[in-house]
Amino acid sequence: MSDDKGFVRAAHIRDITEAGGAVRTINDEEIAIFRVKDKYYAVSNICPHQHSPLIAEGCVENMYVACPLHGWQFHLETGAMPNGLPGLRTFEVRVIGDKIHVRVPERHDSIEW
Ligand code: FES
Repeated sequence: MSDDKGFVRAAHIRDITEAGGAVRTINDEEIAIFRVKDKYYAVSNICPHQHSPLIAEGCVENMYVACPLHGWQFHLETGAMPNGLPGLRTFEVRVIGDKIHVRVPERHDSIEW
């Protein structure tokens, strides 16, 4: 259930370590939540290269997560690749107490026939 701004409780802060991402599904979107120096980031868990659901398993270095399959990198704040091209969808995160909330707007890009 989401609050009036669309945030959904996604995890307890103890569940998200700097050792790796955690996967959650919100509004049919598979997201990966990362922690870097006590800040939390949420990005799509689906790599745009081969649509592999592996981003949460990637290593994070200098704010970029690397897909474990072929090494494509994505910035945790913007989702962009190092060359500036768009990469991953990113999501707003807020921490309330010891809970991480993520806002995952529903997609409105489906084609209606
Ligand atoms: S599937 Fe992610 S880089 Fe190839």
